[in-house]
Formats: sequence, C-alpha cells, structure tokens
Amino acid sequence: MIDDIRAARDAALAQVDAAESLESVTALDTRLLGKKGQLANLKKQLGTLASINEKKAAGQAVNEAMDAVGVALDTRRAVLGSAALDARVLAERIDLTEHVGRPTRGHAHLVTQAWERLEDVFVGLGFRVAEGPEVETDWHNFEALNMGEGHPARGEFDTLFVDYAPEGGESGHTLLRTHTSPVQIRTMLEQDPPIYIVAPGRVFRRDTPDATHMPVFHQIEGLVVDRNITMAHLAGTIEAFTKAFFGSGWSSRLRPSYFPFTEPSAEFDIQRPDGSWLELGGCGMVHPNVLRAGGIDPEQWSGFAFGFGIDRMAVMRHQVGDIRDMFTNDIRFLEQF
Ligand code: DAH
Repeated sequence: MIDDIRAARDAALAQVDAAESLESVTALDTRLLGKKGQLANLKKQLGTLASINEKKAAGQAVNEAMDAVGVALDTRRAVLGSAALDARVLAERIDLTEHVGRPTRGHAHLVTQAWERLEDVFVGLGFRVAEGPEVETDWHNFEALNMGEGHPARGEFDTLFVDYAPEGGESGHTLLRTHTSPVQIRTMLEQDPPIYIVAPGRVFRRDTPDATHMPVFHQIEGLVVDRNITMAHLAGTIEAFTKAFFGSGWSSRLRPSYFPFTEPSAEFDIQRPDGSWLELGGCGMVHPNVLRAGGIDPEQWSGFAFGFGIDRMAVMRHQVGDIRDMFTNDIRFLEQF
C-alpha cells in the first residue's frame, strides 16, 4: 500500500512539474487532489488494511503525499503566474527609444477640450465666463437656490460635507458644491444686471463610480438676467448653442420638468442629424426667490438659467461606453481624441 501511495505521489509530482499553463495547474489540482483522484482512492482503501499500525502508517503516507502535491501545485502556480506577468509586461512594454529625437506633442484632455469649446461658443454668443469656489457654503449651494433646509430636492444631491466650522459657527454648512448653480448666486451678488455668464467647473457628489457616474465631474452653468427676458430667449439660446457646438444638422427641444431654482423649468434634449434624441441638461426661468437671494428685484428683471454635464456631453458626443475611461488616463484612450 505504502509503495502504491509513493508511486501515485511521484506520478502526481511529475505531472505538476510538467504543467505549462495556469489553466493546466487548475485542472491538475482537481484531478490529483479531488475526490476521484488516485490518492483519494487509496485513502478510501485504508479501511481494507488488516492492522491498526498499517492503517496508521498508510494514512500518514497518504496525507503527506497530498500535502506534497498541494505544495507543488502552489509552487508551480506561482512560477507560471510570474512568467505570465513577465510576458504581459513585455508585450505591453513601450520602447521609449522609439520616441527619442522625435518628440510628439501632447494635447488637452477630452474634458478640457469640451470645456474650452463650450466657453468659445458661449463667448461667441455674448456670454462672459464666471467662476465660483469648489468648496461652497450650504447657503449658496442650496438655500439661495430656493432649496431651504429640509427641501426634498436636497435629497437628490448626494452631498459631501466638509469638516469645517467657521469661527463661532457650526460644521455641516460647508460642502463640496454639488452643481455649478451656486455661481449664479455669486455672480448676481457681484454684479448688477444685465448678466450674461457661463460658469464651467468641477462638481462633487457622493456617488460610487460606474459606467455613467463619477463622484467628481464637470458641469457648465448659464445665467442670463436682463429686462423682459422670456422663455423664448432661453429656447433660442439653447438652439443657437446646439447648432454652434454640435453642428448645423442638430437641433434642440425643451421638455417640462421641475427644478427648485427655476419656474417654469424644463429639461432640454438635442437631436442628432439621424433624428435620435439625447438628454442634455436642465434649464428654466430663474425663480423670483433666487433673483431676490442674489439681490435683484424680480419685478424689474427676469432671467433664464441652464446647466449640464460636460463629461456626459463628451461621452455622448464621442460614444464613449464608460465614463470612467475618461479618468483612468490610459494613453491608448486619450490618444483617440
Ligand atoms: N443644477 C442642476 C443639477 O445639477 C442642473 C440645472 C438645472 C441647472 C436647471 C440650471 C437649471 O441652471 O436651470 O442637476
């Protein structure tokens, strides 16, 4: 019996040594150490041995043989694993000497390109570019935008609060801005109407990254405040922007919607030359409460606002399957744009 066990062990070890791929090691693992393996079979036969001493010795031998085969499998797996890694590293290696003497110029990231083109188009339409801080107060991000404490719409913004308490104040009122809309408020407080601004910028939400979400992303906000501004100006601006940015074959439409900071509110879609629609962003007539928060008399002035995601727009425009690809900085992805 002991001889059979040793023979089975040696045969198993030889097979493990001869394995050439990780897949064959896995297959051997099942075959050699599984219930139907030769060693398992021998183990089953222990009961047929006559004396207790024989059983003990043979039992020990089987266990040792199985341990030895197990160790050999692990070792082989590690060897083949590092060889596979070496092969991959070699295959993906970039020969830097190829670039010596032939410097290639980099280019702006897809998001930066979209951001800058958006600015160009809106500046061409008579807008100015405005900015606001990425770390905002609760008041600018929510309250002044007609979302008081406890407003249900706040729940849709997965807000990241900052652990900061202003002197004499309490924490929980400073946050990473969840949208670019607070720049509306800052602009109104800074300048008198007429106002024609766009505000591109980075925004933050407590979202788990997936194919369509990133916790850090980019939006562009638009705000117009002037005398006798109507929804027709809003629709016309969106349409002019769509044609200037995407091309003359594209058009736009507004769909009724709800936002606390606009009344009436709409979502706007753009239509590809092939007739299909893409949802782009939100817009509407600036709510009187928002104008008041910005120190502007809603009896004298009216305005419209809009906002949409820059990365999302770039993803749609270039048919990128996964928004995360935009931020992993794989040169093979970046080079395509
Ligand atoms: N701030 C909104 C968001 O992040 C987008 C938006 C909707 C902006 C309507 C606007 C607007 O200016 O009028 O979901």
